Amino acid sequence: MKVFRGIRELLSPFARYREAALAVREGRVVWVGPERELPEAFASWPQEDLLGASVVPGLVDPHTHLIYAGDRYEEFLRRSRGEPYEAILRAGGGIYETVRATVQAEDEVLLSSAQARARSLLAHGVTSLEIKSGYGLEPEAELRLLRLIRRLEERLPQRVFATLLAHAVPRGWARKTYLRTLVEEVLPQVAQERLALMADVFCDQGAFTVEEAEVFLSRAKAHGLGVRLHAEQIARTGASHLAARLQALSADHLEMATLEDLSSLAKAGVVAVLLPGAALSLKKPLPQAALLHQAGVRVALASDHNPGTSPLLNPWLTMALAVHVVGLGAEESLIAHTAHAALALGRPELGRLEPGAVADFVALEVPPLDPIYRFGEHPPLAVYIGGERVWS
Ligand code: NIG
Ligand code: FE
Repeated sequence: MKVFRGIRELLSPFARYREAALAVREGRVVWVGPERELPEAFASWPQEDLLGASVVPGLVDPHTHLIYAGDRYEEFLRRSRGEPYEAILRAGGGIYETVRATVQAEDEVLLSSAQARARSLLAHGVTSLEIKSGYGLEPEAELRLLRLIRRLEERLPQRVFATLLAHAVPRGWARKTYLRTLVEEVLPQVAQERLALMADVFCDQGAFTVEEAEVFLSRAKAHGLGVRLHAEQIARTGASHLAARLQALSADHLEMATLEDLSSLAKAGVVAVLLPGAALSLKKPLPQAALLHQAGVRVALASDHNPGTSPLLNPWLTMALAVHVVGLGAEESLIAHTAHAALALGRPELGRLEPGAVADFVALEVPPLDPIYRFGEHPPLAVYIGGERVWS
């Protein structure tokens, strides 16, 4: 147990205090409020003076493809000269290039590169992150990535949430056979070894169809996995309606989503995860705040970190893009990268600082929303997970 005091301003999704204190027991917040109102009961607890820092909840990155080998620098150059992403993918590059590099890489190469990326997220205040498989494709290769994610988790201070991603049909496979193998062999193995908490599918033009996604995700649900979708990114396919029907945790991307799509997500309680990094790099419009508000959908933000469309590792830059490109308020962007991001993982106890919530937080030298204003400058002074300092 510990009391953190000397907080100039504490900004949590649903509360804001000046000159605040925060009491933590067994990794959870037990009290938060103005320091002068700190109850007597906590006076004898060990204290840590945060010396006038600001505090916000630990950031949650609910959508990453963190584990892969190689990079797509050459592809970046080609795309910067105007070559389309889909054409490169159809010609066996793009995702397939990362798959080749990943399959050939040794375990340690995959682990240490992913660890370095997670470290970079940590230094920006990300205390919880989702990591998807998806660059293995062949059944054994996908299982290998999930087992590596579990080993990675042991090396990281952060909370890690693993997701099995049906990303693309591997070369040389018939679509039907691949889908059947995912459903009949991979999912049961994942469930039995508890290798993932969630399942996700790239449901789009040139990827899996809505019908295929439904087969995969409904089986995943039957195995007890939470379900998510890469939806309406390249083209509008109706994947949002599937997300609503399946009561998915989230529908992610949504660049091409209509008001009707977003409203159906809102009605079903599905979180809309926006990925500004990927939208910018694919030159897609991001859904605008007015539309999101009209639909009444809960909005989350994520890096979508991957080597192809979003090598982004700075959540403050993501929030700045959400302010300037989507039109979200700065406070709203913070909520999107904390409490709402946690809901996309099905974990309401993360991403907020209130009694009962998990005591993951970030101490900043500047006012809470200043790093958004500065497009990601002023990284945190220190990062705490379960009330323990894990980075400074
Ligand atoms: O989330 N949309 C599909 N998958 C990734 C990109 C993968 C890649 O290009 O390597 C995404 O944007
Ligand atoms: Fe993605």
